[in-house]
Amino acid sequence: MRILSGIQPTGNLHLGNYLGAIRNWVKMQDEQNAETECFFFLADMHSITVHEDRATRLANVRDMTAALVACGLDPDKSVLFNQARVPAHAELCWLLCGTARIGWMNRMTQFKDKAGKNRDSASVGLYVYPVLMAADVLLYQATHVPVGEDQKQHLELTRDVATKFNTDFGVDLFTMPDPIISKQTARIMSLRDGTSKMSKSDPSDMSRINLTDDDDLLVQKVRKAKTDAEPLPETAEGLEGRAEALNLVSIYATLAGTTPDAVCAEFAGQGFGAFKPALADVLVAHLSPIRQRYVALKNDEAALDAILIKGAEKAAAAAEPTLKAAYDAMGLLR
Ligand code: TYM
Repeated sequence: MRILSGIQPTGNLHLGNYLGAIRNWVKMQDEQNAETECFFFLADMHSITVHEDRATRLANVRDMTAALVACGLDPDKSVLFNQARVPAHAELCWLLCGTARIGWMNRMTQFKDKAGKNRDSASVGLYVYPVLMAADVLLYQATHVPVGEDQKQHLELTRDVATKFNTDFGVDLFTMPDPIISKQTARIMSLRDGTSKMSKSDPSDMSRINLTDDDDLLVQKVRKAKTDAEPLPETAEGLEGRAEALNLVSIYATLAGTTPDAVCAEFAGQGFGAFKPALADVLVAHLSPIRQRYVALKNDEAALDAILIKGAEKAAAAAEPTLKAAYDAMGLLR
C-alpha cells in the first residue's frame, strides 16, 4: 500500500484543505502498518501555473511545510518533500505528455474554472497541470490518494493515462491509484456562499477559515457566516436545500468526531444563534493548538529545509525505478 497526496503551497492552509485532505493524511500516516508507506508533498511545480515572485514562492513552501507538520504530519513517519527537489516529477510529466490526449485535457473542469473566460491568456502549464499530477501519482506506484472531491476528475485522468501508457507500450508498469475521498468533508463550502467551495482564491477572506486565524477572528467568521432563518432539523435529511446550514453542521460533526445526524439531534429546534457559538468553540479547540505549533515552527527555515531535503532524497530513490522503466519502455536511453 502506497499512500500519496500533494498540496499547492499557495496562500494559507484553510479548513477545506484541512478537513478535505490533510486530516486524512495524518490519520492514514498514524494508522499505517509495516506494509504501508506514505508520501506527501508540496506541489511547488504546480504552483508555477499562477505567477508568483521568487520571495513569495520561497516563503510559501516553507510556510506550508510548517503548517503540515503543525497539523500532525511527521517527517519520520511520512516522506515529506517538495516536488522541485525531485526532478523525476517533471521528467515523467514530459514522458506522459506523449500519452495524454488533448481531448482529455479539454474536459478538465478545474482548467475551465481556473482559466475562466479568457482561456487564451492562461498559461500552458495550467492546461498541462493534470499530466504533472498523473506523473506525481504514477511515479510512486501509489495505490491510495486521499484528496477532496475537486481532485477526483484529475485522478480519473491519471488512471486513463496509466492504462493508455501500459497498453501502448505493452508493459504492466503503472499501478491504478484509487482516490480516497471522505464523504462528510469531500467539499467544504465557502462561509459566504454554500454553493461554492472554500478556496484560497476567493477574494473574500471571510469566506474561509485559515489555519492561521486567531481565536477572535475564528469566532467572528463563524458569527458572520451566511445561514438561514430556520431552526436546525431533527435529522440531516432536513438540511436538504440548505447548503450553508449543511456545511456548518458537517464541519461541526467532523471536528466533534460525530455525524451530521447526531449534531441535528443535539441541536434540533434551535436556531443558529445557539449553534454558531458551539461551532466556534469546537473550531477554536481544534485549530488553536495547530496554530500554536505552526507559529513555533514557521521561522526555523533551516529545520524546515532539512525536512524537505531529507524527504526529497527518499522520494527520489523511491521514484527512480519507475522513471527508469518508463524511459526504457519508450526506447529512450538515458
Ligand atoms: P490543492 O492545493 O488545491 O488542495 C489540497 C487538497 O485540499 C483539498 N481541498 C478541499 N477539500 C474539501 N473542501 C474544499 N473546499 C477543498 N479545497 C481543497 C483538495 O481536494 C486537495 O486534496 N492538484 C492538487 C495538488 C496535487 C495533488 C497531486 C494531489 C498535485 N499533485 C497528486 C494528489 C495527488 C491541488 O491543487 O490541491
